[in-house]
Amino acid sequence: MSAIKHVWAREILDSRGIPTVETACMLEDGQVCVSSVPAGTSTGTHEALELRDTESARHLGLGVLKAVNNVNSVLGPAVTGMDPVDQFGIDKKLIELDGTENKSKYGANSILSVSEAVTKCGAVSSAQPLYGWIYTLASKVGITQKVKMPIPLFNMINGGKHGAGNLDFQEFWVVPASNKSFIQGLEMGAEIYQTIGNNLAHRGAIHSVGQEGGYAPNLFTNTDAFEVFIESIKETKYSLGRDVFLGLDVAANSFYKDGQYLIRDKSSGMDDFQFLEYYKSLFDQYKLGIIEDAFYEDGWDSWKKMTSELGNGLVIVGDDLLATNIKRVEKAIQEKACNAAIIKPNQIGTITETLKVVKVTKDAGWKVVVSHRSGETNDSFISDFAVGVAADYIKSGAPARGERVAKYNRLAAIETELMQMK
Ligand code: PGA
Ligand code: ZN
Repeated sequence: MSAIKHVWAREILDSRGIPTVETACMLEDGQVCVSSVPAGTSTGTHEALELRDTESARHLGLGVLKAVNNVNSVLGPAVTGMDPVDQFGIDKKLIELDGTENKSKYGANSILSVSEAVTKCGAVSSAQPLYGWIYTLASKVGITQKVKMPIPLFNMINGGKHGAGNLDFQEFWVVPASNKSFIQGLEMGAEIYQTIGNNLAHRGAIHSVGQEGGYAPNLFTNTDAFEVFIESIKETKYSLGRDVFLGLDVAANSFYKDGQYLIRDKSSGMDDFQFLEYYKSLFDQYKLGIIEDAFYEDGWDSWKKMTSELGNGLVIVGDDLLATNIKRVEKAIQEKACNAAIIKPNQIGTITETLKVVKVTKDAGWKVVVSHRSGETNDSFISDFAVGVAADYIKSGAPARGERVAKYNRLAAIETELMQMK
């Protein structure tokens, strides 16, 4: 065993130019593993706390020096001397040190950066690729599936809080069919992305790209984005419904107000029932196979109604609803509120807890969607995590922009490596 010798953190910038935490973990044998954590823009209220220096004027109150200091002076020293392969023991220590329900003492950002750096050291120590080590840890919490490549949900058009355009829905996805290899899917996604860009330019609709690298156009309605998809896919060699499918992260929290969902496609707000009826027409017309955060984060009854009426043919994903929180996931399973869970390690704060949520999700027969955040770094940890836990899908934005393709390129590398070992 090579024990943890020293842990230190620093403040770095994420893809939005906002500070985040990067932690390095050095082993006795001199090897160093570094991990940095992402941050959300459309965060749910049930997520663990992200500690920021709100009272300081630095970075407009968004600095993370307190979180960095927590790693340097408390969390790091606490795990020094421990064996990095003891992920569960180390995470337990971090959780106990914090002692709060939502990691509000030391911050989920500082805690997760340590937890993830330790996972990387565990992989190095056990002479395994990171996805292989995560698979080992996943097996220990009772996840029985072998490693597998996830299907990417390419976020081609960004709206809501992520877009500079005028769309209400947050993420419009193009999804490769399940019979494609990851690398084939990536090639298709990249070609379709370029074609969508050309089409939007012809319409005079592109203003920029959004936070996740998808285009952020001004269009008349949200459904126009799907029309652009259909038109663009027709121009490629791929066929909608055979090679690729469509999906959506509505992020309904962001436009839910006083019991009403107000979107530009309708002249007046819709209540939950009307919004569900609206979705039904959308699914019929555009053959959507997967939808995330169709209702706001505490609208349990609407979630249940949608799942009971449409859950057979539709993947209904909870993100803000579940917040990678085991209690909320267990409640959602019991109440049949959805049939898939977004898994974002930074919503909960340690790798052990994240693995446990994956286990509960899989045991319920639900789909697992491992996800990045809108504020990302070039760390590709989630790619290895998705393969190691045999996730069904991964979200890492558009097939463009460095911090997004870091994950997709890592997945392509893993697939290539797995092929070599066959
Ligand atoms: P966020 O968005 O990272 O801004 O929360 C991603 C999502 O809603 O899935
Ligand atoms: Zn979401």
